[in-house]
Amino acid sequence: MRISIFGLGYIGAVCTAAFAELGHQVIGVDVMQYKVDAINGGEAPLKEKGLDALIYKGVKKQKIVATRDTEKAIFNSDISFICVGTPPKKNGEIDLSFLKRVCGEIGAVLKRKQYHILVIRSTMLPGSLDILKEILENGSGKKEGKDFHLATNPEFLREGSAIKDFFNPPYVIIGADNFEVGKKVLEIYRNIKAKKFVVRSDIAQMIKYASNSWHAVKISFANEIGVLCKAQGIDSKKLMRLFCEDTQLNISSYYLKPGFAYGGSCLPKDVAAIQKRADKLKVVTPLLNAASKSNIEHIARAVKLIQSTKKRKIGVIGITFKPDTDDIRGNPILLVINRLVNQGYNVKIYDPLITKANLKAIKKSYRNEVFDLITKEDLKEKVVEIEGLFTSLNNVVKQDVIVISNRDESLQKVIKELDENKIVLDLQNILDKLSMYAKAVSLV
Ligand SMILES: NC(=O)c1ccc[n+]([C@@H]2O[C@H](COP(=O)([O-])OP(=O)(O)OC[C@H]3O[C@@H](n4cnc5c(N)ncnc54)[C@H](O)[C@@H]3O)[C@@H](O)[C@H]2O)c1
Repeated sequence: MRISIFGLGYIGAVCTAAFAELGHQVIGVDVMQYKVDAINGGEAPLKEKGLDALIYKGVKKQKIVATRDTEKAIFNSDISFICVGTPPKKNGEIDLSFLKRVCGEIGAVLKRKQYHILVIRSTMLPGSLDILKEILENGSGKKEGKDFHLATNPEFLREGSAIKDFFNPPYVIIGADNFEVGKKVLEIYRNIKAKKFVVRSDIAQMIKYASNSWHAVKISFANEIGVLCKAQGIDSKKLMRLFCEDTQLNISSYYLKPGFAYGGSCLPKDVAAIQKRADKLKVVTPLLNAASKSNIEHIARAVKLIQSTKKRKIGVIGITFKPDTDDIRGNPILLVINRLVNQGYNVKIYDPLITKANLKAIKKSYRNEVFDLITKEDLKEKVVEIEGLFTSLNNVVKQDVIVISNRDESLQKVIKELDENKIVLDLQNILDKLSMYAKAVSLV
């Protein structure tokens, strides 16, 4: 394919060399003359392992040329990749000025070209593509989706191993609101063996930030566990190597599905205990401390979402923290119920595992649990009585808003048969298609 690459920095120079290595005809474009000269002379414009050799090979095979001329690059290519920088502004916000400028320049050329595909490789926040689309449309007088197409292709390579990473990526993601265009861009990577996805452009823009935030959280987590271990005379390197051996719960997709707050009889108490140990050891662990704060915030979000429906009759289905157990310890839904009842909502609860036989024990457990949550988090609310809130499933589904807070299979069947007009809040991600309910609301 004939490709032009705008911006010959770390990402653009590597892509130029690597696309040529994949057999494509590549034109590199940069505003810096020395970068253009370096590439045309068969040299990398910057230091990156293996880049010099690939550029030399590409130039010698006449697969790579570089220029400062936008018009020449656009007219001699079918697809352009934009790899200019998106540095932070002084206040930390993303600076789109380089992207805007290059799109302005390309827009002026597109005026005279019949069709072109533009792929933004630079990291940018969701919504940025719309800004660039407007600049391109205004500059060219043409319409995206008809006269030219826009796509994104987030980059996951790391400096220092960029060439290796390019040819062995975790996955290749193309963000394109037109699937056929996405598939066409993906063709460029035909000879790369990796998982490949064409997704909506907003997902493709956001996933880079989710990934980098996750990497930052991982590093900070390992460092906090490291200092906590050190303060207790424990070998943190050995510990974390062992930690990573658990590929079922620790290093896996488990616990990575957005949903409701965590709870149960272990997570809240163990996270609290390790925080207390850190305090005693005078080890500052802001990330570990943030987990319970984030959890409480998520519970508050569920309450706010219910309030936003403007309905007062709330039915809660399932209050045990997991199916097949009547254990309600640490279940965050208890705090939601407590807060709603305190605010005068008419709340009804159904749970198949709560019967007359265990109601007394549940009532006691509820009181202890909610009291614990309230005091631990220093929340200003009183513990309500819930005994009178339990009722049959038939009565619960008569309420205006149905909150699904348990994954029990028998509940799932009932939920599927709910009146389509019910407002359903699915805290457990068990409905395949929330849209099957005209008035479904979602927490995440
Ligand atoms: N560097 C990394 O490891 C890495 C990894 C993944 C993603 N990214 C993202 O990739 C993008 C590029 O990063 P980088 O590190 O390669 O940036 P960089 O600053 O090294 O390179 C940007 C290049 O764009 C050129 N440029 C600026 N305006 C131009 C214009 N109008 N026309 C042509 N060229 C122009 C600059 O001269 C420079 O050579 C950023 O959004 C970055 O966040 C970087």
